Amino acid sequence: MALEEGNDSALTLRINPARVLPLRLLQFFLVFLALGLGVSVFSMYTTKYYKVESMVPITQSVMSESITTPCFEEPRSLEDWIRPPSKLLHTMNDSELLWRASFVPRIKRYPFRRIPKIAFMFLTKGLLPMAPLWERFYKGHEGLYSIYIHSMPSYEADFPPSSVFYRRQIPSQLEPSEYLEIAEWGRMSMCDAERRLVANALLDISNEWFILLSESCIPLSNFSIVYRYLLRSRYSFMGSFDEPGPYGRGRYNGNMAPEVNLTDWRKGSQWFEINRVLAVKIIEDTTYYPKFKEFCRPSCYVDEHYFQTMFSIETPHLLANRSLTYVDWSRGGAHPATFGKADIIKDFFNKIAESKTCLYNNQPTKLCFLFARKFAPGALEPLLELASEVLGF
Ligand SMILES: *[C@@H]1O[C@H](CO)[C@@H](O)[C@H](O)[C@H]1NC(C)=O
Ligand SMILES: *[C@@H]1O[C@H](CO)[C@@H](O)[C@H](O)[C@H]1NC(C)=O
Ligand SMILES: *[C@@H]1O[C@H](CO)[C@@H](O)[C@H](O)[C@H]1NC(C)=O
Ligand SMILES: *[C@@H]1O[C@H](CO)[C@@H](O)[C@H](O)[C@H]1NC(C)=O
Repeated sequence: MALEEGNDSALTLRINPARVLPLRLLQFFLVFLALGLGVSVFSMYTTKYYKVESMVPITQSVMSESITTPCFEEPRSLEDWIRPPSKLLHTMNDSELLWRASFVPRIKRYPFRRIPKIAFMFLTKGLLPMAPLWERFYKGHEGLYSIYIHSMPSYEADFPPSSVFYRRQIPSQLEPSEYLEIAEWGRMSMCDAERRLVANALLDISNEWFILLSESCIPLSNFSIVYRYLLRSRYSFMGSFDEPGPYGRGRYNGNMAPEVNLTDWRKGSQWFEINRVLAVKIIEDTTYYPKFKEFCRPSCYVDEHYFQTMFSIETPHLLANRSLTYVDWSRGGAHPATFGKADIIKDFFNKIAESKTCLYNNQPTKLCFLFARKFAPGALEPLLELASEVLGF
């Protein structure tokens, strides 16, 4: 019939519109179907891809690569997991940070050459007046230490790019009002800040020792001695003793039982030097934290009791029961002595060195202190002058 009609062009013209219309409709329909299918396949694909992406924390570079080539994920190398974060700033809040920091390798043998580092964690209000002395201390030991600074959020650090302190500030998440409390010391926000420092330092898998310092602390030995002393120690350094009387057991609150009984109650200096095992214990604790937060309030100074008591209950065999940070309480009162310009003479350091005999890996030693506090900004100049002679750097 079509052939017949094809011979007559007039007829063809007349008949075609009626016959072509359903065909056009069919074509239209097919195109729509194909388009619809295409769109749904595409959207299924993209949601799958984005889901995968949001579930896996991917480093910036891998992420931008996978956006251009979504089908083939870049093979991840071990290096991606063990490299320290290039920037210390992150957007995790405290619960997210502590959770992330609690990741612990279960296989104890590292399948790569791990050079242990010391994390120096500075808990400060703002300025680091002793920075030039520390700069000299670190010089030549790159790769063996990392630095973390927790200061007041309003404080803008202005270390030059050449400084070891450049961009070593961690997100502090502290309100200025909380810092006023810290000035009074002994509130939980101080321990929160310490946990935040430890958690940030744990993100670098090479950090093996975690040293808590303040802006008024100085090193008493050169880096080589500090490094060897810590790396070879079987115990972590945290003061932890049972003190009868109002300033020790007197600060215990019966509501802390049964998690903490009076006989478990310990006291010690806030300034600690601990290894990775104990650092993880600090950030993963949910047993003692609420008890201390609620029941250790002034005049109970939580930073003198919380970690000290927790460790002596949980891991007493890992504690040296002393701190490596020298402090002078001999002048009496609520605060230890602050040393100024006039105090910094050779004899001062001899006295510290002679002040005590202690145990190191169960052997008696005269080297009991690697750090000291508290030093006023005015002490910096004589310290720099004497450093090579009395501090060994
Ligand atoms: C952190 O963020 C998560 C998710 O928004 C929230 O559930 C959690 O309570 C936050 N934690 C803190 C300490 O703010
Ligand atoms: C505290 O004492 C109670 C009762 O004697 C006991 O069950 C509990 O285990 C003790 N707590 C610790 C940390 O030893
Ligand atoms: C520290 O004290 C605890 C008891 O609280 C003890 O078990 C531990 O052996 C002591 N550490 C050292 C190195 O003596
Ligand atoms: C570190 O100090 C010790 C003792 O003061 C000294 O023997 C050693 O040479 C010093 N090391 C460096 C690298 O300066």
